[in-house]
Formats: sequence, structure tokens, C-alpha cells
Amino acid sequence: GLVTKQSKLIGLIVPTISNPFFPELCRGAEDEANAHGYSLVICNSDASAEKEEHYITILKEQQVDGLILSSRSGLSSTSLLPFLKNVHYVHLDRMEEEAVSGVRLDNEAGGYLAGKHLLELGHTKIGCISGPNEIRNSRDRVAGFTRALAEANLEPVWIQEGDFSLDSAYQHAMAKLEETDVTAIFTCNDMMACGVYRAAHGRGMAIPKELSVIGFDDVPLVSALIPKLTTIRQDTYAMGRKAAALLVQQIEEGTTDFAIFEPTLVVRESTAYVPTGGN
Ligand code: RIB
Repeated sequence: GLVTKQSKLIGLIVPTISNPFFPELCRGAEDEANAHGYSLVICNSDASAEKEEHYITILKEQQVDGLILSSRSGLSSTSLLPFLKNVHYVHLDRMEEEAVSGVRLDNEAGGYLAGKHLLELGHTKIGCISGPNEIRNSRDRVAGFTRALAEANLEPVWIQEGDFSLDSAYQHAMAKLEETDVTAIFTCNDMMACGVYRAAHGRGMAIPKELSVIGFDDVPLVSALIPKLTTIRQDTYAMGRKAAALLVQQIEEGTTDFAIFEPTLVVRESTAYVPTGGN
């Protein structure tokens, strides 16, 4: 048969390398790639469509055997299509439509778990800091969260659109903790939970005594926060591994597959029963 030379290189593009979620995802992909004799080249797009397209072009010129794409936003998973001709690829974590081949979390279920947890602690005045609305992961998390509240005939007191960065959540929380008397905040990732911690500290509010906080991701450092963060866990490392495994399968056997991971609630110290108001 035809002999095709393999480069044994896989390219992985992440949107925000400074967020500790993504290094964990990379580690999983790297370990799995290595286990199959492939090396991983990691590129950071900094949420720029131009950088993403540039990297895809460069990686294809370097004749990578395949690409793992954690696209800047869901939008790019379709707008990137012209760049993805003649190359194997899988989507990881971020995608707009259900991709042919890829790995993602059941984000709606994660948001639902977060909402349920706060309700079970008696909270009725709850705020939410979402990720960018253009990112499907964020929309799904908010949808699951509001579904949980709706089952209890409640709705969020407010939802603010953050950008997954600590600072965006800090700004929103500083303003909203001044204007409203929420007793709990759900943030759509852990970096933003850290921003709420900073704001609560700035406002002299004790977590969890006066304010409960629940995050999303379970990045390694949040169990070292004081108080330790309650969060919705993604098995990020395993998701990275799975994406690389699916890509290798596609390269070597021509098969495509899709995997959805289930989130879990990790209860630590940042959530507590709603303050009674002293009667
Ligand atoms: O913290 C970064 C977020 O963006 C994560 O929750 C991950 O799922 C990604 O889409």
C-alpha cells in the first residue's frame, strides 16, 4: 500500500494558557499522546481568532498528524472550518455545535448541581457571574443553574456577564455586593470565584458566614484558598487524555467519536447555610 510518512506531532491550541484549567488539560493530552509515541506542541491563542488561524496554518505546514482544538470561543469552531481542511482534528472543552469528534463536559448538569447545592443550604437570594455569553460552556452552565432555581420557583437576583477572568468577577462583585443583599454567588469558573473572594474581602464580608461562594472547574489551587473553595469539578486531566486518545484513533484507524464527561459537586468550606439574620 501507500506509505505515508508521519510526523508523530500533534498540535494543541488553547485559548488562555494563564488560566490553570488549561495547563491541566494540556498535561492530560500530552501524557496520552506520549503513550502512543506522539509529541505535543502547545499553542496559546489568547482568545484571538487571528492567532488561532495563524497557529492552525503553521501547524499544518509543519505537517502535524492532527490537531486538538480548544477554540477561543464556540463561534470559532464553525468559522475555523476553512482552515481545517485536510487535517485530522478533535474539539476539546469548547465548541459551539456538537462536533463530530471531541470531548466536552455536560456543562448544563454542572450549573444545575451548583444551583441545587445553594438551594439545599437555604439560599434564596443568589447572584451569578457568568462567562462570556458567546461561549456555549458559559450559556449552558447558566441555563442549568437557572433551571435548578426555577424548580424552586426562584430566579437569580442578578446575572452579570464576566469574561472568565478574576478581575471581571472582582469588578462585578464589588458593585453588586454594594447594591444587593445576595447571600450566595455562583461563578462560572474558579478564577472568577477568586475575584469574588477579593471583593468580599474588600467589602469586609466573611465567606461563608455572610456570603457563600461556589465556583466551577476545580483547578488545583482552589483547595488551598481560605476558606477552601466549594466548586463543580471537571476531570480536566482525564478530558485532555480522552481528546488525545480520540485523535490518535482518528489518525490511525480513521474513526471519529465523541465523549461527554459528567461534572461532580465538591463541597469544601466556602458554602454554608444561609445566615438567619439573628432572630
Ligand atoms: O476556566 C476556564 C473555563 O473555560 C473552564 O471552565 C473551561 O471549561 C473553559 O471553557
